[in-house]
Amino acid sequence: MSKGNYYVTTPIYYTNAKLHIGHTYTTVAADALARFKRFTGYDVKFLTGTDEHGQKIQEAAEKLGRSPQEHVDEMVKSIKSLWNTMDISHDVFIRTTDEKHKKGVQKIFQQLYDQGDIYKDFYEGFYCKPCESFWTQSQLAEEQACPECGRKTELAREEAYFFKLSKYADRLKKHFSDHPEICYPETRRKEMINNFLEPGLEDLCVSRTSFDWGIPVPFDTNHVIYVWFDAVCNYITALGYGEDHDRDFKKFWPANVHIVGKEIVRFHTIIWPAMLMALDLPLPDMVYGHGWILFAADKMSKSKGNVVYPEVLIERYGLDALKYFLLREFVFGQDGNYTNQTFIARLNADLSNDLGNLLSRTVAMVEKYNGGRIPEAGAVGSVDDELLRTVASAASKVEDHMEGLQYHEALEEIWTVIGRTNKYIDETSPWVLAKDEKDKPRLDTVLWNLTESLRVIAILLKPFMEATSAKIWKQLGLTEEMHWDDAKYFGKIKPGVKVEKGEALFPRLDVKKEVEFLEEENKRVAKAQQEAKEAAENPRENTGKITEKPADTSTAEPADNAKGGSPAEASDKKSPMATIDDFAKLEFKTAKVIEAKAHPNADKLLVLQLQVGSETRQVVSGIAKDYKPEDLIGKDVILVANLKPVKLRGEKSEGMILAASNEDKLVLGTLDGEIPSGTVVS
Ligand code: MSP
Repeated sequence: MSKGNYYVTTPIYYTNAKLHIGHTYTTVAADALARFKRFTGYDVKFLTGTDEHGQKIQEAAEKLGRSPQEHVDEMVKSIKSLWNTMDISHDVFIRTTDEKHKKGVQKIFQQLYDQGDIYKDFYEGFYCKPCESFWTQSQLAEEQACPECGRKTELAREEAYFFKLSKYADRLKKHFSDHPEICYPETRRKEMINNFLEPGLEDLCVSRTSFDWGIPVPFDTNHVIYVWFDAVCNYITALGYGEDHDRDFKKFWPANVHIVGKEIVRFHTIIWPAMLMALDLPLPDMVYGHGWILFAADKMSKSKGNVVYPEVLIERYGLDALKYFLLREFVFGQDGNYTNQTFIARLNADLSNDLGNLLSRTVAMVEKYNGGRIPEAGAVGSVDDELLRTVASAASKVEDHMEGLQYHEALEEIWTVIGRTNKYIDETSPWVLAKDEKDKPRLDTVLWNLTESLRVIAILLKPFMEATSAKIWKQLGLTEEMHWDDAKYFGKIKPGVKVEKGEALFPRLDVKKEVEFLEEENKRVAKAQQEAKEAAENPRENTGKITEKPADTSTAEPADNAKGGSPAEASDKKSPMATIDDFAKLEFKTAKVIEAKAHPNADKLLVLQLQVGSETRQVVSGIAKDYKPEDLIGKDVILVANLKPVKLRGEKSEGMILAASNEDKLVLGTLDGEIPSGTVVS
């Protein structure tokens, strides 16, 4: 019978970059909790998903010459595939671009507006684009820097809608004092109280007009709903809130726990609870703000180039090794440093030595001293009691640690059992007992106790390391279904079961060699990523031969000097072969420049009006460094005419013009003679 319902969530991930091990930390933790709760008898709903709106994402898409929807669709594929590789057991994957979510958010916005909790005014303040956060002057760090990430904020003034956050300040304070679990661990709660609740809350700006990639305000479509307002609603729209037919909302709300990283605790313990109060809905039981995984004492971030990706580690050392490391090495709630050295050292010490050796020695001894069959216990010894007590009491201690999301302590507890069992081998020296037939009854007990310990260890490990747990089970020759409560009793294995020797669970690693390998691998992945990014932003650029001059070199690096490497190296690069069918997909036409001007929002771009036969086309092109607008008027150029239109920094671009470029300069591809514009080039 179910012990009750349990709803656990991760934050929804931004779809603007590949996820690194910092992101996987949150999801691995939530996954272990969901598995633990299922295994211990709860009816679990585990939610994860993607946060797909906002200016950052719109700009990332523009840079790549894609529409925001195409961009997020691509990114979501890669996030889903990562969770698949990591065997994440979520029940629901929500996207903020899902129609149901969008409708739910609009309904919530409308309700709060109708009841007076949202009103229209002017916003004047400081906006941090990377964090999608608004700040007041007094909240800023030095030099207008965002207090969260330290990057420069922008002063913004625009008409906007506001949520009456200030109205809920007193109720929030009271809730913090009556229900401290609303913000764990305690250090974060104090931070929230001292930095936000005590100084007083200001109303929150919840709409934007300077970009359009978001959910429109239902009654004023010039505005899109602030991305954080949109995002936090996912926790209830995923359950069907706002739909006519309530799906799971009644059953699973309020959430038992929202697991989030420390930098987004404010959104989850102040803004989100105030929104719920306004909606007259119960608040989540617990919000847990975990620490960051740091790299050389700095937050992992792609822009700083200090990122470790999970795929590399999983492929070489296995998924369970990574999961174990993340949950065991770092104290949940505190920051911790990642190094390749500590990663490999921990795998060797805990997984290969302690756990791996215990299993292989035990199975080998059962084979050698009892023909591969688990014996019946015989003579009891004085050291047995302590082992039995340690083993049988572990499960309830793990339960206690998991109540407080103390993963590292839960795993430490399991390793206490492993350590105690290894010590038991040393204390009883089975190889000495095996020498004298009269000691056989004692030897049988020792072997039985060892296999019993391992049976319990396999059960305890299941929520954290599913595959490893299954391998131990198999090597012990066990076939029955595992039950958590069976870990609370010693003495369940039936004598006579045949053990099955298998491969080493975790082979011992050469620390120096592996650290070197990982360093090389990290560099290789970073380089490949950079190249892929450049290729996407500047297709077939910089080869010294005539190329399509992408209109979308937009904001970023100057297209012609961002590549590194000499022109000779560059021209060695081979593009993949195109078939005649590939070529036939593109349509080239002659065009005449009839108007040209600087792009209002990007120094490197020009906005051109082209005559293409009877039609006029606007094309945005990254040629501002090499051409003045006035020099272009009247030039005949070659247009890639059937490219899907994109918006580049707010300006529509309907195609690209061809240009040749190398490190130093760029020249437009032109025509050797008069021919009407709109003529097909083939
Ligand atoms: N989209 C928002 C969350 C909205 S929830 C309604 C967001 N996304 S995120 O992709 O930037 O971050 C997702 C999670 O990854 C956060 O919990 C964040 O703390 C976590 N991590 C990202 N880098 C991290 C580390 N280096 N270490 C640990 N966790 C970190 O924020």
